[in-house]
Amino acid sequence: MGEVVSETERLVLRNWRSGDREEFVRNLNTPSVMRWLGGVQDASTCTAAFDRIDGFQRDFGHTFWIVERKSDLAMLGFCGLKRVNAPNTSLTGEFEVGWRFREDSWGQGYAREAAIASLDLAFGRFAAPHVVALTVEGNASSRRLMQRLGMGRRADLDFNDPRLAAELNPTIVYRLDAANWPAARSAALVQPDAGPTDSA
Ligand SMILES: CC(C)(COP(=O)(O)OP(=O)(O)OC[C@H]1O[C@@H](n2cnc3c(N)ncnc32)[C@H](O)[C@@H]1OP(=O)(O)O)[C@@H](O)C(=O)NCCC(=O)NCCS
Repeated sequence: MGEVVSETERLVLRNWRSGDREEFVRNLNTPSVMRWLGGVQDASTCTAAFDRIDGFQRDFGHTFWIVERKSDLAMLGFCGLKRVNAPNTSLTGEFEVGWRFREDSWGQGYAREAAIASLDLAFGRFAAPHVVALTVEGNASSRRLMQRLGMGRRADLDFNDPRLAAELNPTIVYRLDAANWPAARSAALVQPDAGPTDSA
């Protein structure tokens, strides 16, 4: 029940527990969070997505876990590992890292912190040979995070998801091999340049 899967400096990744679904919908089923995920979802779509999340945990022992901030126990979103379940791709069944965070928590490095913990689990406990991440061209923050984690762009693996609108196609693919994680991890831990950024 809500047991901790991983702990980082500021965050806990834990299993889903009773009441999480309602809180998640309240704080994350918003136009900005869902901008590149097909927009705000109706109740039955949300339930189906949560059921899939439970199913990954049941079937594989990992899923998109709840991310909680240690300082105030706020639920920030989810991050973790599922398996590719999109149609029309050769990637089906591969380890996939993913994330979704509340808008008021963006830009503070939380997703990077949780994703590093997730990739540690992928290559450690779950012995993944490689991990993919899927997004769309327009989702700049998610793409940036993939790059920040040392994931390589794999245009050869991109695919069209017939369930999605034109704006959300193609699905673009990033991939990280287990052998590259130690070096990528060290680079990902480096804090972004805190110096002046205004070059105007
Ligand atoms: C993607 C998401 C999880 C990033 O969360 P976050 O906590 O803001 O990410 P971080 O603060 O760890 O930042 C990660 C990197 O992305 C960069 N970044 C964040 N927002 C960005 C934006 N709008 N444009 C470009 N880069 C951005 C950060 O600068 C950082 O790179 P840096 O370390 O080199 O500076 C968050 O924006 C989100 O939940 N989006 C909506 C849901 C979603 O689209 N999920 C992904 C589906 S594929």
